[in-house]
Amino acid sequence: MELDIAKESERITANCSRDSSNLIPILQEAQGKFGYLPAEAMQKFARFLKLPESTVFGVSTFYAQFKLAPTGRNKITVCRGTACHVRGGVRILREVERQLGIKPGETTNDMENTLETIACFGSCALAPVMVVDKNVYGRMTTTRVAQILGKTK
Ligand code: FES
Repeated sequence: MELDIAKESERITANCSRDSSNLIPILQEAQGKFGYLPAEAMQKFARFLKLPESTVFGVSTFYAQFKLAPTGRNKITVCRGTACHVRGGVRILREVERQLGIKPGETTNDMENTLETIACFGSCALAPVMVVDKNVYGRMTTTRVAQILGKTK
C-alpha cells in the first residue's frame, strides 16, 4: 500500500512545536515512515518549521542516515576499508556490481537490492566483509557472492 506523503508528513509534525531543533527528529521519523525523505515531505517540514527548503535539504544530505531516494528491500553493503581492500574487497564489490547490475548508491529496478559501501565495519579480522541487511559475511570470496545474493530472493 502506498503512503500518502502529504498526509503522513502532517501526521509526523502534528505533535511537534515549530522549533527548528525538531528538524532532525522529524526527518528521522519521516525516514522511518517512508524509507527515504521524499521532496514533498521535506518541503512540508520546511514550511512547518519556517526554515528555508535549502536548510532542510542541506541537513538531509549531510547525514548518511538519510536517503533521498527509495531504497531496495535488501541492503547490501561491501566494506572498502584497508583490511578488506588488501584481502580482495574490491573483487567482492565488482562481483556484487556485476551480479546486480548496479553501482554503489544505486538500487535495482525491481527495488529488491540497494548496494552501498562502508569505510569499515569494525570486523577487520573477518576481511573481506560484506553485510546483507543485518547478516555479516566474513572472509568473502567471489564464488560466495552468488550464494549469498541468492538467499535474498
Ligand atoms: S576494513 Fe573492512 S571491516 Fe574493517
